Amino acid sequence: MEKYHLYATMGAGFESVVAKELQDLGYNTQTENGRVFFEGTQADIVRTNLWLRSADRIKILLKEFKAFDFDTLYNETYDYDWALLLPVDARFPVKGRSVRSKLHSEPDVQSIVKKAIVDKLTDQYRRRGFLPESGTEYQLDVHIYKDRVRLSLDTTGQSLFKRGYRVEHGGAPLKENFAAGLIKLTPFDGSHPFIDPMTGSGTLAIEAALIAKHVAPGIWRKFAFDNFDWFDKKLHSELLEEAKDQIVVDHAPIWASDIDQSILEIAKVNAHNAGVLQDIRFKQVAVKDFATDLENGIIVANPPYGKRLKDRQAAEKIYEEMGKTLRPLTSFSQYYLTSDRQFEQFFGAKATKKRKFFNGNLRTDYYQYWANKNDYTRKKS
Ligand SMILES: C[S@@+](CC[C@H](N)C(=O)[O-])C[C@H]1O[C@@H](n2cnc3c(N)ncnc32)[C@H](O)[C@@H]1O
Repeated sequence: MEKYHLYATMGAGFESVVAKELQDLGYNTQTENGRVFFEGTQADIVRTNLWLRSADRIKILLKEFKAFDFDTLYNETYDYDWALLLPVDARFPVKGRSVRSKLHSEPDVQSIVKKAIVDKLTDQYRRRGFLPESGTEYQLDVHIYKDRVRLSLDTTGQSLFKRGYRVEHGGAPLKENFAAGLIKLTPFDGSHPFIDPMTGSGTLAIEAALIAKHVAPGIWRKFAFDNFDWFDKKLHSELLEEAKDQIVVDHAPIWASDIDQSILEIAKVNAHNAGVLQDIRFKQVAVKDFATDLENGIIVANPPYGKRLKDRQAAEKIYEEMGKTLRPLTSFSQYYLTSDRQFEQFFGAKATKKRKFFNGNLRTDYYQYWANKNDYTRKKS
């Protein structure tokens, strides 16, 4: 079976989480900023697309070389056996990115690579004139960093955060892979309670339920590789069946609450679509009134954080309320994501640990308060 050089891409800060996910699936990994490399067959392409919770995409690294001028970029690209990858009618958009490199013009890099591939395919398929580009899409990318060029093929299609369970509602939900990554930074595995007291459209609670039930996050969707004409079509259905057989039923309670009943209705639809509606207890309650008889669990939440002063003041009042009702739950490890740099001051306690993430373009901190009673809920991340 042919082995490929593969890599997963992810949001900044999630490299170690994705590396750990890959290692748990049995792969040896090598990490760089924004990428985790591993080796695998077509079955591994299917498996990682199906199972990785916190990654964005899985790509095949086709070729790597140094280039300081456009002639080298053209010639090295032309040299690759493109007809092996791209059928005569393939659509193959090329995305270009260049960082700290001599060839810094991204539009030029992109069009030189595209031209080299078109020229090669025209020669290989002995065509005169244009290639039709009317068939399956093969998204290629050229990435140059410090003059090292990488040519890759995306196997994922729509980013892995698009699980397929979420209805649009115009709010500001966390991306599904971002939410899963935040949970993966906690010791949560479904054997202890999980609470999100500001659940919004339910992303954190739903991702927690999928982890607890061992549901593969890619179970509902299609991937770019499904349409590649050289890809073994049986693999996806076989690995999907295997994934369905691994779903478990029992887990510790998962609670999701919010002050806003209308957003909870959306969360329920999302949970239903994800097949976990019965696994989550949804309740309308303001955080100032939050109470639980559960113990030794994990709280993960993404409270409001306003950019305008008025919104920020309202958010900070909520942090104070969280400090009153949630901080005393000391058998829980607690994790809060917010862009407010004064969160600790209003919450009333200094975090055990902080970690920086970008939620879209917004710099946020993930404030981690480890439980002080129970070893299970402590985890070094
Ligand atoms: C940033 S959103 C959470 C988004 C959520 N993580 C998701 O993926 O959809 C913050 C949520 O906190 C809720 N909220 C605001 N004030 C609250 C309060 N006092 N008590 C409980 N929830 C509150 C809002 O209704 C909103 O749904």
